[in-house]
Amino acid sequence: MSYLNNAATTWPKPECVVNAVRDFMLNGGANSSRGSNSQRDMKTMNIMLDCRIKAAEFFGGYDDADPILVTFTANITESLNVVLRGYLRKGMSVLTTSMEHNAVMRPLRALESEGVNIGIVSADSNGLIHAEDVKRKLASAKYDLVVMSHASNVCGTVQPVEEVAEICRERSVPLVLDTAQTAGVIQLNASELGLSALCFTGHKSLMGPQGTGGIIWKREFAERVEPLITGGTGSYSHLETQPEEMPDKFESGTPNLPGIAGLNSAFDWLNDKGLEVIGEREKKTGQYFLEALKKIDGVLLSGLSDMRGRLPVFAFNVEGKDNGILADGLSRLGFETRPGLHCSPAAHKTLGTFPQGALRVSPGYFTEESEIDGFIGALREVLR
Ligand code: ALA
Repeated sequence: MSYLNNAATTWPKPECVVNAVRDFMLNGGANSSRGSNSQRDMKTMNIMLDCRIKAAEFFGGYDDADPILVTFTANITESLNVVLRGYLRKGMSVLTTSMEHNAVMRPLRALESEGVNIGIVSADSNGLIHAEDVKRKLASAKYDLVVMSHASNVCGTVQPVEEVAEICRERSVPLVLDTAQTAGVIQLNASELGLSALCFTGHKSLMGPQGTGGIIWKREFAERVEPLITGGTGSYSHLETQPEEMPDKFESGTPNLPGIAGLNSAFDWLNDKGLEVIGEREKKTGQYFLEALKKIDGVLLSGLSDMRGRLPVFAFNVEGKDNGILADGLSRLGFETRPGLHCSPAAHKTLGTFPQGALRVSPGYFTEESEIDGFIGALREVLR
C-alpha cells in the first residue's frame, strides 16, 4: 500500500510515538489527579505536564509559554467548538472565510441559528484569502471575533496569517486560528502573532495519535470563554461548580492519556527533526508530485500550481471522470487517497468543485518519490 492521505491523518507515526502509547498502557495507565501519589499516579502527572510544557513551547505560548494556558482536547473540532461556542453569544458577530472546514462552519451555522451574525471573506479561485479583504470587512462593521484556517485541507493553500493577525491586532479583534493542516509543518508562534486561541490537532502533522488536540490560549481571552463541558476535574472536589482555574476550567473528564503520552513523544520527534527539515522534505515531495501530475492529460488541479504558498495537499479532477470511481480504482491498486468534499463544502464551492468534489492526494513526511511514480502509473492505468 502507498498511503497518500496524510491530510486526513498522518501515517505511519514515528516509532517513538507508538512506543510511548504502549509504554503508558503497559507500565503507566493511572488516571490523572484522580489517585494518591503512587509512582504510577506521578508518572501520569509528569507525562501530562511534560506534554503541556512542550505544546506551549512548540506553539510560542503566552506568558513565557506558561503550560497552564494549554488545554487538551480530543481533536481540533472539539478545540474550535470550545472556543466558538464558549465565546460567541446572541448579537455578536464573527468573521470567517469561504475556505473553512465544517469544524468551523458547522459550529458557526449552529450559533447563527441562535442569533450570532456571520460575515464571510471570499477567497480567490486558488483558495487564497487577501488580507485587504479582511481589512475592508473589519472596517465595514463591528466584529467580535475572527476565525480562520491557516491552510486549506482541500487544496493546501496557505493563508497570509501574519498580515491578518496584524490587522486583527490593530482593530483589537480576537483572532482564532485553525492549524489543523499546518501544525507540525509550518512554525507558528501564538504570542508573537497575538492569537487569542490557537487550535491544533495531534494526529496530523504533529504525528501524534488520533484523539488528541488542544488549544493555546491568550489568558485574558480564556477568561472570557465559558467552558463547553463541565464535570469532574480531579481538583476542587468540594465544589459543585466548575473551577475557574486553568487548565481545569476546560478539561473535565478523564483525558486521552495514552494519546497524550504519544503526543508528548511526537513533540520530541518534531523537535529533533526540526520543522525546517520537515517542511523542506514535504515541499520537495510536493514539487515532484506536481511535475508528474501535470503530464497527465485532462487534469484540473485546484489551487496553486507550484509549491510556493501551498502544502502538499493536492485536489484535482480529471475531465469526464468521477473522482470517487478514480479513488476506488486507485485503492484497488494499493494507493490510498480521499475523494469527495473533504468535510469542506464552502471550500469546494469557492474552488468551483461543488458538488462533485475532487480527488485529494496528500503525500506526507514519509512518502518516497518512488511511491509517487507508482501512483502516477496507477492513475494512468485507472484512467485507461
Ligand atoms: N479534516 C480531515 C481531512 O481533511 C479529516 O480529511
